[in-house]
This record gives sequence, C-alpha cells and structure tokens, in this order.
Amino acid sequence: MDIVVSGIRSTGNLHLGNYFGALRNFIRMQDENTCFFFIADIHSLTTHPDPKSLHANVKNVLVDYLAAGIDPEKSIIYLQSDIPEIAELYLYLNMHAYLGELAKTTSFKEKARKQPDNVNAGLLTYPTLMAADIIIHHADKVPVGKDQEQHLEMTRRFARRFNNFYGVEYFKEPVAYNFGQELIKIPGLDGSGKMGKSEGNAIYLSDAPEVIEKKVKRALTDSGPKEFNSPKPDYIENLFTIMRVVSEPEVVHHYEELWNKCEIRYSDMKKQLAEDIIKVTSPIRERILEIEKDDAYLHKVTTEGAEKARESASKTLNEVREIMGFKPF
Ligand code: TRP
Repeated sequence: MDIVVSGIRSTGNLHLGNYFGALRNFIRMQDENTCFFFIADIHSLTTHPDPKSLHANVKNVLVDYLAAGIDPEKSIIYLQSDIPEIAELYLYLNMHAYLGELAKTTSFKEKARKQPDNVNAGLLTYPTLMAADIIIHHADKVPVGKDQEQHLEMTRRFARRFNNFYGVEYFKEPVAYNFGQELIKIPGLDGSGKMGKSEGNAIYLSDAPEVIEKKVKRALTDSGPKEFNSPKPDYIENLFTIMRVVSEPEVVHHYEELWNKCEIRYSDMKKQLAEDIIKVTSPIRERILEIEKDDAYLHKVTTEGAEKARESASKTLNEVREIMGFKPF
C-alpha cells in the first residue's frame, strides 16, 4: 500500500470540472492506498480571510468532498490546522529553505503580482508548508494537477536537503500522481477552455436542478451549422465534451448526427444535457443537504481524522526532533 497525501484548497464549492477531474480519481485511490486527505486551511490564511468566511469555506469543501464520495472509513480526512505538528515541521523546514529559491517560485510571483499589498512571508513559504504537509506522513504519491508540479519538485528538494544535512535517509521523495490520460478536462459553458470558479462559468455539485437548467440554457451557442459535417466551433464542442461525460453514448451519437445533418436544435440538446448533468449531481446534492446539517457527523469525521493524522505526524516529529538534535536532559 502506497501512502497518498493530498491537500484540498478551502476556497469555493466543487464543480463538475473538479468532480470529473481530480475528485473521481481521489475516490478511486482510496481503495488501493493509505490516503491522507486534508483541507489546507492554514494555506488559505495567505489571503487573510475573515474568521467567519474561513470556517464557512472549510465546511463547504468538507461537506462537498464527503458527499461526493471521500470516505472516512477508507481515508484519513482532517483539517490541516488540527495538526500542530505540521506547523512545527514547517518551521524546521524553513531553516533550510532559501529566500532565492522561494522568491522565484511561479505561484509566489503570481500571487505577489495579484496581491501587491499583501506579499506576506506565508506566501513566500507556501512551498515549505506544502512540503511539511506531504513528508510528515512519508507520502509516496501526491495526486495533484500540473500547476502543483513545481511545489512537488520543491518538496523533494527539501526532503533531500534535510536528509543530506543531517546525514540520514529519513524522508522519502514523493512523486506527483497525475492520472495521465484519465484526467478529463471539463470546459466552461461560456466557450472558454476550462470550467472554473474564477471563470464564473461553473456548474456546482450543490446547484439545484433549476439552477443547472438555467446555466445550461445560457450556454453560448450560435445559429447552427450551415454545411453538412462541418467542424464544430469551440463553444459547441464544449457542450459535446460535457455531454460525453454525463450522457449515454447513444445520446451523444444522436446529437452528433443531428449536427452533421444541420438539424440540431440547441434547445433540445441543452434540455437533454441539463437532465443528464442533474442525474449525476442530484444524488451528491442530496447528500450535501443532509451532511451540512449534521454537525455531529462533521465533528466525528474531523476529530477521528485528526486523531489518526496526529498519530502519524507526531511519530514523524519525534524522530525529526531527535535527528535534529533536540533531546531531553
Ligand atoms: N497547493 C495545493 C493547491 O493549491 C493545495 C495543497 C496544500 C496540497 N498542501 C498540499 C496539495 C499537499 C497536495 C499536497 O491545490
């Protein structure tokens, strides 16, 4: 059994893109690995959320993940802020992380550009905190998207550096696990290449059926194909891409045919598409509505998760302290 660690951003609800992208793979990974999934709420402090919205965001994300199928019977689910050992390891790793390498990280440069009034040290040391998250459980694999590869590269470097400095072979060097071919990219409904929260074109797992219908209805289309078998413009291809993941193959085929014969009626296609999206999301939405009211369940999941995660983390910290020379008299 490999050890898998992944952090979940505590911003925004899950949308179809998240679901058909990483999330479904997280769900599958739970059976063959020891998985640690946590909500990266300390990381979220870099943008200075107010306490109320911080808690609300954490709850939303937690509820969405549980509803979608992250299973506390199989995986260890916890909040980063419940594991003080992570912060401690982060502190130690920072002693061996250098300004030059941190300052040239792509995500840091981007953030510094986006929030020039708040270029805090937490932003600079985001990669050391992420490294602590990962190596604290001796992860073998980290399921992340392309945008996190540099952070993972730094994680390996920090692990190696610790080992070299202290002359030990203690930390493993984890690899990115990015699902290869399987990762399906869900496009937006506005003709853009990607469904995303910041793009404002997303269908959320928690959206009510009427909301989904409305969003699909508004999706960008045109007056229809003018010639038989003509290539589809991107925004039409996008609708077909979504249809391919939510609808039966015959349904997709049917609309492909209509397109090719210039007989497609977008309103029909959209109606079908909305219906099939709702088929996928409504069981998840029902669980969201149940779980979000169930404070006792959320309390249980997070306390039990924290307990298990701390067991692993405190073992590591005891060993790390000893390696570093912190010893009792
Ligand atoms: N940086 C990751 C993201 O933005 C979130 C994250 C924090 C993470 N710590 C992690 C991912 C550890 C994997 C492992 O998506």
